Amino acid sequence: MQFKRSDFPQDFIFGAATSSYQIEGHQFGGAGQTHWDSFAATPGNVVRAENGALGCDHYHRFEEDFDLLAAAGFDAYRFSTSWARVLPDGRGTPNQAGLDFYDRLVDAMLERELKPCATLYHWELPQALADQGGWRNRDIAKWFGDYAEIIMGRIGDRVFSAAPINEPWCVGWLSHFLGHHAPGLRDIRATARAMHHVLLAHGTSIEVMRGLGMKNLGGVFNFEWATPVDGSEAARDAAALYDGYYNRFFLDGVFKGRYPENVLQGLGPHLPENYQDDFVTIQQPLDWVGLNYYTRKVIAPNDGPWPSHDEVDGPLPKTQMGWEIYPQGLYDFLKRTQAEYTGDLPLFVTENGMANADVLKDGHVQDTARIDYLNQHVAAAQKAMQEGVPLSGYMVWSLLDNYEWALGYEKRFGLVHVDFETLDRTPKESYSALKIALTS
Ligand code: FCB
Repeated sequence: MQFKRSDFPQDFIFGAATSSYQIEGHQFGGAGQTHWDSFAATPGNVVRAENGALGCDHYHRFEEDFDLLAAAGFDAYRFSTSWARVLPDGRGTPNQAGLDFYDRLVDAMLERELKPCATLYHWELPQALADQGGWRNRDIAKWFGDYAEIIMGRIGDRVFSAAPINEPWCVGWLSHFLGHHAPGLRDIRATARAMHHVLLAHGTSIEVMRGLGMKNLGGVFNFEWATPVDGSEAARDAAALYDGYYNRFFLDGVFKGRYPENVLQGLGPHLPENYQDDFVTIQQPLDWVGLNYYTRKVIAPNDGPWPSHDEVDGPLPKTQMGWEIYPQGLYDFLKRTQAEYTGDLPLFVTENGMANADVLKDGHVQDTARIDYLNQHVAAAQKAMQEGVPLSGYMVWSLLDNYEWALGYEKRFGLVHVDFETLDRTPKESYSALKIALTS
């Protein structure tokens, strides 16, 4: 790598991230059905209709996975707990085996001096709650608060940090407007409600966790820089709207107690009545903010209905996901988040990384492109730090190749290669490079 640990402040945290449904193996340990299982079982939603039933079998192999994390010199591990593993029906009787599993998981991290950074929801909603409208139903805030109390009642005394919901934009817009993720809806009213209820659930669970005496509570948001296709006013407005519903909506809600005007033009009529009253809960103070960053989008206006724009193919080199490599966006978001929203609050890059068409050959995976990607993004983060952004940590997505949602097991994001037939783990070249950077 082009950086090493000593280039950073002593307490800077390097980590790697994963999520429950993508790696655990959902079929094990009494977890309940989720909306990802039914979404994946519906033809056309997921490549080869693959699901997270097996994942990386992390449920049985977590010791081996944590040994890899520790050997590379990571300080922290960002993981998520599965609502349906803790509460198979979303509410009611907890699954003791599920609670025991997360208990063991946290202890196994601590044994290796890995800081457990927990996320309460990384997308696998219990099917029983989806049946009741899922994120469209306002009651989800309470259901989520109850779940937070149960899982954090068990592990909250030992986690280093906790965040309620991974990437509100994906839960709201991607899953209810674009229909790309479960529950696969394409409905503007569902979208408006889901986006608002996600924030209400976020705030509710922060209150619950504070009530448990927990500290170091944050929020994890994903950001995509929006570049206007040209210098026209229409293109600028189109990009500003993309920026509005993708990036600003959630930070405006949490830090300013309002939603962006340009987004309200479309979503306003579909939001719940008196939604403004919920900002008291939504604005619960946070201790840190996490940014997940991968790419940017080039945006062009069109004549269609709101939001009246298209994503245009950009000119930069792309990852296996077809995502343009644009490290400048990470720098810009770190600067803007501090300047306009978070001030002195510590920031973390909670996800950053790339999918690559990695090939295992003679026991090696030569993922030079990933090393390059990580170098460029870490450099962008360092530049922001030099200019005063209080960045406290950087986490790679992902430790392991895993279930990449609608794209099944095809897109490989891991520092460690997983053979999905044998489940063998093989550290890639990027893993070795990071290990040298972090341990020497
Ligand atoms: C993020 C998700 C994560 C993974 C990466 C590639 O949006 O949080 O689960 O899918 O993208």
